[in-house]
Amino acid sequence: MAKKLIVGNWKMNLGPHQAGLLVSRLSDKITVHPGVTVVLCPPFVDLHPLAKEIKADKLKLGAQNVHYRDEGAYTGEISPAMLSGLAQYVIVGHSERRAQFGEDDKLIALKLAAAVRHDLKPILCVGENLLDHQHGLSQKVVIDQLTADLAMVTAEDMHGLAVAYEPVWAIGTGNFARPDDVAPIVSAIKQTVEELYGEAAGMNVQVLYGGSVDEHNASAYLTLPGVDGLLVGGASLNPEQFGAIVTAATKASQS
Ligand code: PGA
Repeated sequence: MAKKLIVGNWKMNLGPHQAGLLVSRLSDKITVHPGVTVVLCPPFVDLHPLAKEIKADKLKLGAQNVHYRDEGAYTGEISPAMLSGLAQYVIVGHSERRAQFGEDDKLIALKLAAAVRHDLKPILCVGENLLDHQHGLSQKVVIDQLTADLAMVTAEDMHGLAVAYEPVWAIGTGNFARPDDVAPIVSAIKQTVEELYGEAAGMNVQVLYGGSVDEHNASAYLTLPGVDGLLVGGASLNPEQFGAIVTAATKASQS
């Protein structure tokens, strides 16, 4: 059975009350099969109420970001220690954080190491911008980012790592990447992890696709060799659409 990981990134949407409503609608829509893990990444303020509400066998929680220090004078930040017990996963290096908040690979490497230290499973995002894509540099940019972002972790830390390939130009645009273009990048990611951390790490790393995933295109990615799941933004806020994506993952996990 090919295990699939479906992650919903709610971004800066829904406060605690609305988050609770969405989760109860999702719980009605989603039947989680053992071959599929569904992770919701709501805003920080929703994590505590949702952690009490959700059934962990059905839905898991992740954070969208994390600081790399455990505590201290970092106004407005959330530490990995604070997330322990509330979230099992954390998104690290999303392109919106890279572009809008100046996160570079050095900072992302620190965050990744901090997440691992606190037993949070990182979902590391990598992806090229439109200009690099147009110049045929997608694979090079992705592998350079991946190599730099993994600089502070060891082979043992690789357990539970997911890498999301998210072309920046495909995020929130409706302009999703062609599955034929995604396949070689996914295999280059796995190969790079294997070269850096050995065969087991290369086999165990879960590689996701993200960027304008919806209920219509989800199965085209989920059935690609090497694609272990999806990182879903906009469509994760819609229970019908997200439910259909989880159903597509269930089918793909059984084939
Ligand atoms: P999108 O976002 O599905 O709305 O394109 C994906 C993401 O940013 O993770």
